[in-house]
Amino acid sequence: MAVSQVILAAGQGSRMESDLPKVLHQLAGVPLLLHAMRAGAALDPARVVVVVGHGGERVARVVEAEDPRAEIAHQTEQQGTAHAVAQARAALEGQSGDVVVLYGDTPFIRPETLAAIQEARAAHDIVVLGFDAADPGRYGRLICAGDTLERIVEFKDATEAERAITLCNSGVICADRAVLFDLIAEVGNANAAGEYYLTDIVELGRARGLSAGVVRCAEAETLGINTRAELARAEAAFQARSRADALENGVTLVAPDTVIFAQDTYLGRDCVVEPYVVFGPGVTVETGATIRAFSHLEGAHVSRGAVVGPYARLRPGAELAEDVRIGNFVEVKSAQIDEGAKVNHLSYVGDAHIGAGANVGAGSVTCNYDGVFKHHTEIGAGAFIGSSTMLVAPVRGGAGAVTGSGSVITSDVPDGALALGRARQQTKPGLGKRLMDRLRAAKAKG
Ligand code: UD1
Ligand code: CA
Repeated sequence: MAVSQVILAAGQGSRMESDLPKVLHQLAGVPLLLHAMRAGAALDPARVVVVVGHGGERVARVVEAEDPRAEIAHQTEQQGTAHAVAQARAALEGQSGDVVVLYGDTPFIRPETLAAIQEARAAHDIVVLGFDAADPGRYGRLICAGDTLERIVEFKDATEAERAITLCNSGVICADRAVLFDLIAEVGNANAAGEYYLTDIVELGRARGLSAGVVRCAEAETLGINTRAELARAEAAFQARSRADALENGVTLVAPDTVIFAQDTYLGRDCVVEPYVVFGPGVTVETGATIRAFSHLEGAHVSRGAVVGPYARLRPGAELAEDVRIGNFVEVKSAQIDEGAKVNHLSYVGDAHIGAGANVGAGSVTCNYDGVFKHHTEIGAGAFIGSSTMLVAPVRGGAGAVTGSGSVITSDVPDGALALGRARQQTKPGLGKRLMDRLRAAKAKG
């Protein structure tokens, strides 16, 4: 059955003390909001609507980049969670099936939990995700009678007896679209906060004879972020889990606590990751590759058997084929490096294609940027680029081409050719000594 998602991201998040909307703060290398979107995406939703408020245009751009099919609904005044969901009504008009409501500031809900909620809809008209809180604090409380959820009471409105209940509302709720919006239309704001509470739909639904039930999850999944301290704790929790998962999945982490993962880092079995490696978003490392110490990778793909680092930087679009070697102080950006090629020392390779088995000598640079445009460099298979070659793009070196050390290459080098692009050396016998003697004498005179 089709399911749509409404993600609430209009809250002010004022306790972040920030000009940046709360849901755009980074967790695990990506904006907070994308965690909820990606967990939701695992259910293959028919429609996704993100409700934005404060900083809405910036949030909308992030949403669009993540999922161009997602729709944006604006909530100009934050009048409560029911009011926020109501802003998605028009975008979902006529859509059949269920709606799941998620929060943009709650990043750890697992796709499996969302699947369990969907399944529980077979038994109940309204399904709420709840958890047993160690310290229930200000969460809404779930008032149940046996397996039935009777209503949800917000902390502010709860009696002492209700506040003693530890079963809390995560905020995730699921119901048929038409039923959800019908109930929301009935929600009022006569409560302690003067807000339209989404949680009121449970009691309103029960009054109509609908059934409501609870799916439980671990408290850690429902962790919401309101402050920078909570964000830092969430980051630590994420990293701890990622390290444990990597070890479990057959990755060697020499010093696990020093390796930083992103939300979508993928490391194949038998990869070795040395200390102090940072994975930014969009990195996949295949089986048996080694990432040596102090390397920084983002938007890169490393194939089997490749070795990267120590002190290497792979930027977006770095595509390394099998058994490639990228050594110390080498930066690679938007470049395909074919099988077995080596770029071992102090080089920049950007907007380039390096053929199989080619060797790029120490200190070589693809001069890809003319100040306005980026240009491409093509190096053929088996080419040998001498140390400190400046490849002024656009330029092409053929298969097996060789460049002399220190060359500035401005025109194409045919297959198998040798190109020398540097001043010819002049050697003056004795002149070195005479020059130094004169300088030292001048210094002695003062
Ligand atoms: C809400 C629940 C509470 C639950 C708790 C879990 C209600 C009335 N209460 O309370 O039962 O235990 O979450 O964290 O639903 N938002 C908007 N627009 C608004 C108001 C909120 O988009 O007008 C968004 C926020 O950005 C946030 C989410 O909805 O992502 C929850 O809002 P928040 O104000 O944090 O709700 P709580 O009071 O914590
Ligand atoms: Ca909250």
